[in-house]
Amino acid sequence: MAGVVGIVGTGLVGAAAGYLLALTPGVREVVLTDLDTARATSEAADIAHAAAFGSTALVRAGGYADLAGADVVVITAGVSLKPGQTRLDLLATNARIVSGIIERVLAVAPEAVLLFATNPVDVMPALAVRRFGLPPGRAIGTGCALDSARFRDRLARQFGVAPQSMHAYVLGEHGDSEVLHWSGVHVAAMPLARFAEQVGAPITPALQARISKEVRSSAYRIKEGKGVSNFGIGGCIARLTQALVNGEQTIFTVSTFMEEALGVPDTCISLPHVLGARGASASMMPPLDAVETVALRHSATVIREAIGAALA
Ligand code: 2OP
Repeated sequence: MAGVVGIVGTGLVGAAAGYLLALTPGVREVVLTDLDTARATSEAADIAHAAAFGSTALVRAGGYADLAGADVVVITAGVSLKPGQTRLDLLATNARIVSGIIERVLAVAPEAVLLFATNPVDVMPALAVRRFGLPPGRAIGTGCALDSARFRDRLARQFGVAPQSMHAYVLGEHGDSEVLHWSGVHVAAMPLARFAEQVGAPITPALQARISKEVRSSAYRIKEGKGVSNFGIGGCIARLTQALVNGEQTIFTVSTFMEEALGVPDTCISLPHVLGARGASASMMPPLDAVETVALRHSATVIREAIGAALA
């Protein structure tokens, strides 16, 4: 890939992503697009000034025509969560906004990989596939890549190990029905429970429940304090885009449209995928215990219904 990345939507999420992308290896150019052209122009200038301290990436504002030739187009536009709302409450408004954006992006960049960060983020790839015929691997929701980072961060703090050494995934909806894949957590090539015993800090069901609740409600708690969550998702967008533009073949839990998952048809949940130059590969289903299987099937059903409502 040539390393050209477009961002549609330059609110606080798009700006955080743009800033990090300007500093990301392999990203040569970042184009910021927004209905509010003055805002996009100002964000581009501000980010370019930061990039001038150590990056050669070109950062500029532009319209849809300027997205021609982009390798990856990140879509962050739409309304964001207000206190008391769930991500699914944003469905009708954001599905309409994002449909319009997909159409305009594909008109100028028909080969681009689309990376969706607009909530409900697991519905948007399905719109791109079902309404616009995009191959599923080229319509990617940031999904639970962010939740997996939150899970790793929380476990890392618990055990005094770097998040990068915690192999832990969150699966399913990026939202209230998400499933923390506890049975699959590995550290130092052993299951978490064994590791926790070896370091003299056994993991109890109560601790597990507390961590699950904290990870699942992360965005709600962040919003209570600052009204928005933008750096976590900005970092997530930058890291996923880095994997795409550099053809890394790195594994992340992102959401892509699937004809079937755990017996649920036409859904779009986060599962581990390989991210490389052609987008996301076919999804992988890790071994689950009985409780996780039921929970993930429920999550797949929640998203299936939301997709049905968005396409209706
Ligand atoms: C987040 O989890 C709101 O989906 C956004 O930070």
